[in-house]
Amino acid sequence: MNIIIIGGNGTIGQAVVKELSERHQIITASSKHGDVNVDIADPQSIEKMYQFAQKKWGSDIDAVVNTVGKVHFDDLVNMTAENYHKGLNNKLMGQVNLVLMGLRYLKPTGSFTLISGILNQDPIRGGTNAAMVNGALEAFVKAAAFEMPHKIRINLVSPTIVEESREEYKDFFRGYDAIPVAKAALAFSKSVEGIQTGQVYRVGY
Ligand SMILES: NC(=O)c1ccc[n+]([C@@H]2O[C@H](COP(=O)([O-])OP(=O)(O)OC[C@H]3O[C@@H](n4cnc5c(N)ncnc54)[C@H](OP(=O)(O)O)[C@@H]3O)[C@@H](O)[C@H]2O)c1
Repeated sequence: MNIIIIGGNGTIGQAVVKELSERHQIITASSKHGDVNVDIADPQSIEKMYQFAQKKWGSDIDAVVNTVGKVHFDDLVNMTAENYHKGLNNKLMGQVNLVLMGLRYLKPTGSFTLISGILNQDPIRGGTNAAMVNGALEAFVKAAAFEMPHKIRINLVSPTIVEESREEYKDFFRGYDAIPVAKAALAFSKSVEGIQTGQVYRVGY
């Protein structure tokens, strides 16, 4: 398959590239690294990313995998509307735009795989923006799966904290069990290489 992986140099993205590149052709995209630069919060740059892939593979694009998304972390009492827009514009609408624009480039049998996280199911202090965005992503994927044209599929991977990020986030995730990032990558493999659609793959919780 020909697969675009957004965030291929990130903690989760690297593991997904490792898992999928054994069997497939990959284009990696991210804000500063990869085969092509993309800012998921900027629709024009998403369009450019798809045009780059189309130039390389024509209309033979099988899967779009996103492992990127920023939100704002702070205690509820400090949060402003602007703070919430960070997650809404980046992690939520960035991924929604990847899907909406990708529909014009993806093969009729293609798939989208998006990323969320544990915090809407198992909240931490300071995580309301993450929780709201993750919940919206679950709702979007569930509803969008019914309206996907042709045989296009869409799934969401929702991992708990991964061991490779534990040190960085340890003060936020006390008491949480961490998973090896390779385990999260398997859920991306299931989404891309399997047959399911409209699924939320909760990994490690
Ligand atoms: N790490 C965890 O334990 C964990 C668990 C569950 C869910 N998640 C979620 O998974 C996602 C990725 O987490 P991570 O830990 O892998 O992050 P990370 O290691 O910080 O990597 C972030 C990646 O995103 C890219 N990026 C950042 N902003 C971008 C933008 N606007 N447009 C395109 N690419 C952009 C970076 O590319 P450049 O280096 O080129 O800037 C990098 O490849 C986040 O949404 C996070 O909430 C993470």
